[in-house]
Amino acid sequence: MVKEYIQRSIYRHFTGENQLIMNDAPPSVNELSQKFQDIRETGIYLHIPFCTRICPYCPYNKELFREEACLKYLNAVIKEIDKYIPVLKNIQVTSFYIGGGTPTTMLTKGIETIINHIYRNLNMKCHVHMESHPNHLTAENLKIIESIGVKYLSIGVEAFQDHHLKALTRPYTVKEVKNNVSRALSRNFDCVNIDLIFDLPRQSESEIEQAGLEIVKLGVQQAATYPLFRFSYTSRGKQFDKRRNEITTAFRRRRLLKILEEIFYGSGYYRSSVWAFTKKGTDKYCSVTVPVYLGFGASGSSYLNDIFYVNTFNVNEYIKAVDEGKSPVSLSINLSERMQMAGWLYWRIYETRFRKSDFHKRFNMCFDDKYGSFVKFLNRIGYLKNGNDQIKLTDKGAYWVHAFEDFFSIEYINKLWGTSIQNPWPGEVALMKR
Ligand SMILES: C[S@@+](CC[C@H](N)C(=O)[O-])C[C@H]1O[C@@H](n2cnc3c(N)ncnc32)[C@H](O)[C@@H]1O
Ligand code: SF4
Repeated sequence: MVKEYIQRSIYRHFTGENQLIMNDAPPSVNELSQKFQDIRETGIYLHIPFCTRICPYCPYNKELFREEACLKYLNAVIKEIDKYIPVLKNIQVTSFYIGGGTPTTMLTKGIETIINHIYRNLNMKCHVHMESHPNHLTAENLKIIESIGVKYLSIGVEAFQDHHLKALTRPYTVKEVKNNVSRALSRNFDCVNIDLIFDLPRQSESEIEQAGLEIVKLGVQQAATYPLFRFSYTSRGKQFDKRRNEITTAFRRRRLLKILEEIFYGSGYYRSSVWAFTKKGTDKYCSVTVPVYLGFGASGSSYLNDIFYVNTFNVNEYIKAVDEGKSPVSLSINLSERMQMAGWLYWRIYETRFRKSDFHKRFNMCFDDKYGSFVKFLNRIGYLKNGNDQIKLTDKGAYWVHAFEDFFSIEYINKLWGTSIQNPWPGEVALMKR
C-alpha cells in the first residue's frame, strides 16, 4: 500500500497523470507515416523468441526452439518489416539490436535472411548488436555471426562459479564458458560484452570479487552486471519473493556493486550505463542508442515520441496476425508531452550522462526551467554532477537508479510482460490505476 502510494506520487509529480493504462489501439500505417515526418533517425529492434532451454528466472518473451515455428516466424518478421519500408524511406537507421530469447538459435535458420532483408531495404547506417548464448559460440558459428554484420556481441555468461551456474540451470561449466568467451574475443568484434548476474542466493562477496577479476582477465571490452531481479511471473520469482527482505537486499547489492566498481575502475573500465562497465577507448555494446525505435517480432516494442506500442508476445498469434494482414500490435499508449519529457529524463539518467541542450533540441524548452530544481537537489546530495551543459550521474546516483528500477520499473514489467505472456491480446493493462 505504502509502496503503491509512493510510486503513484512520484509518477504524478513527473508526468501530471494519475494513471498509466495501455490499451489495444494500434496506430495505422497512415498515422505512422505522419509520425515519421518529424523524425530523421531511428533505432530498430528485432526479437528472436526462441531458446534451446528455458531458465526459470528469466522474464523475457521466449519459447522452446521449434524448427517449423522458426520458419514461419522468419516469414512473418519479413512481412512485418515490409509494412514499414515505405514509412522509413527517408529515415536513417542508426542502431540495430537483435535480442531475445536467444538470437543465436536462428543462426543458419533464417536470421541471415532477415538481416539481409533489412540491409537491402532500409537506410542502414550502423552495424548489428546481438545477444548470444555461450554454448552457441563454436568457431563455425562465430564466423557466421561476423559474416552477417554483427560487430557488437553480447554473451550471457551469468556467473563464474560452477555451483551458481548449476543453481541458475545454465548448461555449461566455468571452464567451458571461459573458453567460448576467449574464442569470441579472438575474432574481430568491435565490442564483446558479457552479462553477469549478481546477488544470487547465498553468493558471497569473495565470489563476486572473483567474478570481477575473471572478467578483467578475460579481457572483454564490456561487462553488464545485473542484480538478480525477481519477476513474480517466473517460476523462480515466485519462490524468491517469499523469502525476500527488501532493506537487506538493497544494502547487500550496494556492497556487491561497489566491489565490481573498484575492480573495473582499477582496470581501465568506465561506467557506460547504470549497469555496464566498458573498457576506455572502445565503443559500448548497448540495446538502443537513439531515443526513437521500432521493434519487430513477437513482443517487439516501439517508441515514436508520443506513442509507445507493443506487439503480441505469443509467437503463433504474431505469425497469424501478420499472415492475415492484421496488425500484430496488442497494446499501445499515447504519451502527453510531460510524459515524454519524464521518459526522456529517465532514459538519459539510465545512460549516466546527457546534455541539457539535447533536451532543448528535442522539446524546445530549457532543461533548467523544467528540471533545474530537481537536478540541483540531486547534485547537493551527491547523486549527480551538474555542469553547464553536461549532467553526469555519480556511482552513488547510479546505485540509487538500480534501487529505483527495482522499486518502480520491475513492477511495470511484471504487469506488462506478465500479462502479455499469459494473454496474447489483453485488451487493456493498467500499469498504474487511479
Ligand atoms: C536474453 S538473455 C541473453 C542471451 C541468451 N538468451 C542467454 O541467456 O545466454 C539477456 C540477459 O538478461 C539477464 N537476465 C535474465 N533474467 C534475469 C533476471 N531475472 N535478473 C537479472 N538479469 C537477468 C541475463 O544476464 C541474460 O544474459
Ligand atoms: S536467460 Fe536467455 S536462454 Fe535463458 S530463458 Fe532467458 S533468454 Fe532463454
